[in-house]
Amino acid sequence: MNQDFIPPAKPIIGTEEREAVDAVLASGQLAQGTEVASFESEFSDVLLDGRPSVAVNSGTSGLHLGLLAAGIGQGDEVIVPSFTFAATANSVALTGATPIFADIEPDYYGLDPKSVEAHITDRTKGIMPVHLYGHPFDVPSISAIAQKHGLQLFEDAAQAHGAAVNGRRVGTFGTFGTFSLYPTKNMTSGEGGMVTTNDPEVERRLRLLRNQGMERQYENELVGFNCRMTNIHAAIGRVQLTKVMGWTKQRQQNAAFLDANLQGVVTPKVAAGYEHVYHQYTIRVTEDRDGFARALREEYNVGSGVYYPVPNHELAPYRVAEHLPQTASAAKEVLSLPVHPSLSTNDLERIVEAVNKVAKAGA
Ligand SMILES: Cc1ncc(COP(=O)(O)O)c(C=O)c1O
Repeated sequence: MNQDFIPPAKPIIGTEEREAVDAVLASGQLAQGTEVASFESEFSDVLLDGRPSVAVNSGTSGLHLGLLAAGIGQGDEVIVPSFTFAATANSVALTGATPIFADIEPDYYGLDPKSVEAHITDRTKGIMPVHLYGHPFDVPSISAIAQKHGLQLFEDAAQAHGAAVNGRRVGTFGTFGTFSLYPTKNMTSGEGGMVTTNDPEVERRLRLLRNQGMERQYENELVGFNCRMTNIHAAIGRVQLTKVMGWTKQRQQNAAFLDANLQGVVTPKVAAGYEHVYHQYTIRVTEDRDGFARALREEYNVGSGVYYPVPNHELAPYRVAEHLPQTASAAKEVLSLPVHPSLSTNDLERIVEAVNKVAKAGA
């Protein structure tokens, strides 16, 4: 095998990002300032139909501060998926509230509305589903459950920049929505997060919480954190924001090519009226998923990823006896193939050939 490795993800950093960082370094204004303010308003315009956003230093901070700003704390329960990155449940636990794990539906990997309803108690204050892999969760059904039971809806949109339900962008449905800007995400600021809300009081509390409780210097109003984004990170994010929609189109075209050509594996589905932004292109391999991934790597030099092999309710900090059958089977079967915008036609053809041959050999 003498072909180059095809990585499962590849951040794209070009000359413009480097020049933008240089300009900030030359300005001497390194910490949170005008670059961050511009990034916030541009993010709102490009990805959120103008809904206000607040920049923070990571997606995890965004979820944590969003929950605190929405009034979640000790004694409360928030329903989350178990099939997600641990930051979803961690951000709930960090407020002092308890994450309650519900099951997913098997086609799109979003929270299953029936399982959500079955987990509501008199301590439930909110539901925080995840737009996993870049496919929105079932927003109409889960919003209806939230409304019926008087609960808040929070969106973990860490993986779903620009995804939409019937033309409306994710991040605009809940009390708040949070995006991650980690390097492997659809766009990056190096590290970073963006929280969006339409509620002026939640927005104000978010701004206070990220900056030691201060809106004005030394007039601290509450106990806050230092979760500020730097101007350096914002400068990278502003450049990436001008490219993310084009990259998303490329991801969607790459996914369409894989859909049309893969054989012998279960390809991802897209619900009618939903826009999938393919943070991940996730197939299901029903027999020996880990052996399948090993063969792609060792025989064809094609990378892949398993998101996520361990359901969060089985992780050491949580360990609760929940029966979540769809979560269990997804954790055993999912495999994410490269779909990022840097793939060449030749890369895509190699991925198809590798997957189809490994699937055929295992059949
Ligand atoms: C679903 C989900 N939630 C939250 C996060 C946390 O984001 P960050 O890594 O920026 O803290 C991530 C990032 O990996 C994620 O995938």
